[in-house]
Amino acid sequence: MSEPVTLLLDVPSGWSGHWAGPLREYLPHARLIGQEDAAAEAARIDYLVTFRPRKGLLASLANLKAVFCLGAGVDGILADPDFPRDLPLMRFVDRSLSRELAQYVVMHVLIFHRGQRYFDAAQAMNKWRQRPLVRRTEDTRIGILGLGEIGTMCAERLRDLDFVVTGWSRSRKSVAGVESFAGAGELAPFLARSDILVCLLPLTAETLGILNAKTFALLPKGAFVINAARGGHLVEADLVDAIDRGHLAGATLDVFQHEPLPAESVLWNHPKITVTPHIAAITDPRAAARAISEGVAAIERGEPAPHRVDIARGY
Ligand code: NAP
Ligand code: GLV
Repeated sequence: MSEPVTLLLDVPSGWSGHWAGPLREYLPHARLIGQEDAAAEAARIDYLVTFRPRKGLLASLANLKAVFCLGAGVDGILADPDFPRDLPLMRFVDRSLSRELAQYVVMHVLIFHRGQRYFDAAQAMNKWRQRPLVRRTEDTRIGILGLGEIGTMCAERLRDLDFVVTGWSRSRKSVAGVESFAGAGELAPFLARSDILVCLLPLTAETLGILNAKTFALLPKGAFVINAARGGHLVEADLVDAIDRGHLAGATLDVFQHEPLPAESVLWNHPKITVTPHIAAITDPRAAARAISEGVAAIERGEPAPHRVDIARGY
């Protein structure tokens, strides 16, 4: 009989219960190792399950067959200089994750579009202040940076609410009712027609700092920005400057240069910025365990696992 495979679940101990149950359910014959036993078991670990590996961990795992990322974005793993460039890396792709992110994006688009902050402020003063929409829905153009798994579902949901939706990606897309812009050459015209800009790109060498002063200057005056991708996409000082000068109307940010967002960050108390703590879409442990079990089974059969990351491309 073949040896059971060994998986290292690299999540802080407070979270391991959350993930371990579903992994045991979907991989009943595997040996599941927690962070606390990683050093003692290093040579026997076949598969690493992680989101942002602790420094030095990858270097200590000499016999890894593959890494499974607990999230959609693999930047935290690829940033580790010890990640072997030829090792299979799988990311998490699931309808449940896209759906959660689409809910987050739709909610924050609507909070801005419907002027909800104005009504919250009026309620706080016991004031009955009626006001029409600032811009009609069918005249509101939403631009989505990144028309991949998640961006596409967001685009479809917003299109179904009658917004004018466009998407920007590397390759041209065909999504019903959504205009597709592709490549660096089409970024400027895409931005020029984005009253609300939503970032759902992976963080790569090409997209690092893409939300910067130059980008904001290309957006129409009064545009609103939602960043639910990675903090590295945004030059935070440029955003605050563009809002304070009145060029941008405001922003919703779920991700930050430094997480947790430091208590002294000006973003916390900015009156036109909404801050959420990287919760736009949280991986469902059962869905992740199912995907990992399918990936492990494929690799053990000598086949490629689904959702393998193209390391050279970075996503
Ligand atoms: P995906 O399916 O890989 O889609 C990425 C999209 O970005 C693709 O359309 C791709 O274009 C485009 N893209 C990549 N590099 C580009 C470039 N240089 N220029 C133009 N377009 C480029 O990724 P996903 O599953 O939708 O996830 C997107 C990101 O969301 C993740 O990487 C992660 O950072 C973030 N995320 C955040 C949360 C949260 O809670 N805040 C949760 C989940 C995910 P092509 O299609 O042409 O390749
Ligand atoms: C979360 O940030 C993810 O990448 O899934």
